[in-house]
Amino acid sequence: MPVSTTWRNLRKICNLHIFATPKLDANQYLRRSKVEQLLAGVRESSLIGEAIEIRQAAFKTTLSLISNTIFSIDLADSTHASEEFREIVQGIMEELGKPNFGDYFPIANLDLQGIRRRVAILFRKMMDLFDKMVDERMELRRMNDYISTDDFLDILLQLSHQGNSEKLDRNLIKHLILVDLVIGAIETTTSTLEWAMAELLQNPKVLQEARGELKQIIGEGNLVEESSITCLPYLQAIVKETMRLHPSFPLLLPRKAEADIEIHSFVIPKGTQLLINAWAIGRDPKFWEEPDLFRPERFIRSEMDVKGRDFGLIPFGGGRRICPGLPLAMRMLHLMLGGLIHSFDWKLENNITPESLDMKDKYGLFLHKAQPLRIIPISN
Ligand code: HEM
Repeated sequence: MPVSTTWRNLRKICNLHIFATPKLDANQYLRRSKVEQLLAGVRESSLIGEAIEIRQAAFKTTLSLISNTIFSIDLADSTHASEEFREIVQGIMEELGKPNFGDYFPIANLDLQGIRRRVAILFRKMMDLFDKMVDERMELRRMNDYISTDDFLDILLQLSHQGNSEKLDRNLIKHLILVDLVIGAIETTTSTLEWAMAELLQNPKVLQEARGELKQIIGEGNLVEESSITCLPYLQAIVKETMRLHPSFPLLLPRKAEADIEIHSFVIPKGTQLLINAWAIGRDPKFWEEPDLFRPERFIRSEMDVKGRDFGLIPFGGGRRICPGLPLAMRMLHLMLGGLIHSFDWKLENNITPESLDMKDKYGLFLHKAQPLRIIPISN
């Protein structure tokens, strides 16, 4: 969506009703219980020495965290509708993970591999499923004894009835929730978690250092809480270092020059589409010492953050289009990563060594790890 009054309103609503600190604090218990479920599942695998595909586990947990946070439904449960929904979201992820040659040749509607057509079909199915959920909610809302869940869906429906939010119709609500919030959140968070675990398995000393910090600050047997994240500088540094090397949206959102502009003696004419290469910036040897090495220590005594102010590290973008989901993403990532490495030690399967672990990436709309990471949890 281009910058417009509707875009501004939607961002305002999202910031106020989902991403504001008091809102996130109020529903942190939901995320806590979902991370507990994740760890319980991992524990079962650890008892039989079974490898876990981190992407799958992270996908399910992130979907559950997001759907609970936004519309109080657990899309990771085993009902038929949730399973169907999950399959569709996974199908969309797979299609969006493929490079679409049409994107590099700006010829109208070029869709050589049929990706756009297949994604359109999946989106339609997802919208239809979600329509049923919205219908059910509207029916509940009409009942006299309805007690508001006070979740984001309820707030959007309420605002759309008050008519004080320009053009907040049902179609817009569906697109905002499903496309921007569900799809935007899941792939990025899942992929970042998978990269973080892969980097830790490739760098066992970093993993041990992180486990040491968690043991000292959180204590054995306790769960990492959102309120403890600020006391875990090494864990935070691992997340930043992962995002420096593996930004999920390597080219951010495309920009368009609103006027002719000159930058460092390059003239950029009005209307030019601009892509910002966050991936290359994160690996620029002029800026980063030994840029290809995973060294979280570089952030330990540094003020540098991912909030869009430090242009050397912009995995969430910057300026007015900066990712609005940043505060939620950071909570989810630290909770899941902290939980996984605090409660378990990990080893690679099939005698793979840290040196031979395949770290190749694959670029579609997002930057994924090409080979799914499969690792074996070992209970403490
Ligand atoms: C590790 C996790 C995430 C990463 C790395 C990430 C990264 C990004 C980036 C790079 C952009 C474009 C910013 C720009 O071009 O300046 C973006 C936009 C966006 N992100 Fe995220 N994101 C993450 C998680 C989330 C989550 C959890 C949500 C919501 C629940 C979310 C919702 C959005 C939305 C709605 C936009 C579009 C904003 C607009 O159009 O103005 N993201 N994200």
